[in-house]
Amino acid sequence: MTDSPTTDSSTTKRPANKIRWGILGPGKIAHAFAADFQYVADGRLSAVASRSTERARAFAAQYDIPFAYGSYGELAASPEVDAVYVAVPHSHHYEAASLCLEAGKAVLCEKPLTVNSGQAEALFALAERRGSFLMEALWSKFNPVIVHLGELIASGAIGEVRRIHCDFGFVAPPDPGSRLRAPGLAGGALLDIGIYTLFLPHMLWGLPAQIDSHVVRGETGVDVQEQIILQWPGARMAVAEASLDSYYPTTGVISGTEGYIQLAAPFFAGRELTLWREGSEPRQVRREFPGKGYQFQVDEVNACLRAERLQSRRHSWEDSLALCQTMDRLRKTWGITYPGERAP
Ligand SMILES: NC(=O)c1ccc[n+]([C@@H]2O[C@H](COP(=O)([O-])OP(=O)(O)OC[C@H]3O[C@@H](n4cnc5c(N)ncnc54)[C@H](OP(=O)(O)O)[C@@H]3O)[C@@H](O)[C@H]2O)c1
Repeated sequence: MTDSPTTDSSTTKRPANKIRWGILGPGKIAHAFAADFQYVADGRLSAVASRSTERARAFAAQYDIPFAYGSYGELAASPEVDAVYVAVPHSHHYEAASLCLEAGKAVLCEKPLTVNSGQAEALFALAERRGSFLMEALWSKFNPVIVHLGELIASGAIGEVRRIHCDFGFVAPPDPGSRLRAPGLAGGALLDIGIYTLFLPHMLWGLPAQIDSHVVRGETGVDVQEQIILQWPGARMAVAEASLDSYYPTTGVISGTEGYIQLAAPFFAGRELTLWREGSEPRQVRREFPGKGYQFQVDEVNACLRAERLQSRRHSWEDSLALCQTMDRLRKTWGITYPGERAP
């Protein structure tokens, strides 16, 4: 990889050997990511960075990672790393991804890519200016069942799709300072789990024409429960529900004029779907894979780097921007602005 700037918006530099990955922010999701990395064919974990040297060393020892850094800046500057997985809280995605892109690293940044669409657009401009790859870690898009769902719908298996229903709810720790509830960490259901209920309709239909919603705000002021109805031209609707205060079955149902497809829970990361067509027996389709499925998004980044691309066609900058714009619209309606953020 190089850190020399380029004005070519379509390509990035190609690493010679296995792509060397660094992890920035060794928290909860970074552990799941590192555990699944053993299933990545064309990459290896080369470095990890924490705000604390001890935490970086402990994580490195657990996953046999050669380099451990006590600051994010050292990882961004490291000659041992081609691509960085950004796994800090949402509030810090923009700053951490900028640091790495500026240094010429490819970046896979946890969802949501940024807290708002203004930050997302700034990241795209930076990635383009530096010739660095950037993708939001929307791992569900690369889940084999979701990929098959896309194929089934494209083949007309359920006719014209008219309605999508997704729900995701669980009881988050009550601590007002926790990542999911603290406004300073961009807490709330929408950005953390609501994004999963929105990604399927956005994947199939793009930006909605109309959005209606109801929200419950918790003690810290962030959204803790919401029901969202989205509409697209052509009698197409989606219902998206998320909660940090009660348990939902985490299902996804896609309904069409000739049948429906039910994604087994959790709908965004499952191994099975059921296809029901009018007049036929229900058909189950399973897709087995090792681990939790975080490896597929890494495979996509590696393939893009080999193809010298700056963004993925399967989860493009435009796709991430659309999700940010929809979430901006919702937060604007709800009057939720995070500290230090101008109104979305
Ligand atoms: N794809 C998925 O399935 C999935 C699941 C869960 C979360 N996520 C995403 O991953 C991101 C991180 O979530 P998480 O649950 O892993 O978070 P977490 O465990 O609370 O924090 C991740 C790490 O970020 C670092 N960090 C940097 N600045 C911080 C700050 N101001 N406060 C707290 N930690 C800070 C900390 O590492 P050091 O201090 O050691 O540097 C911390 O361990 C979120 O954006 C979330 O949306 C994705």
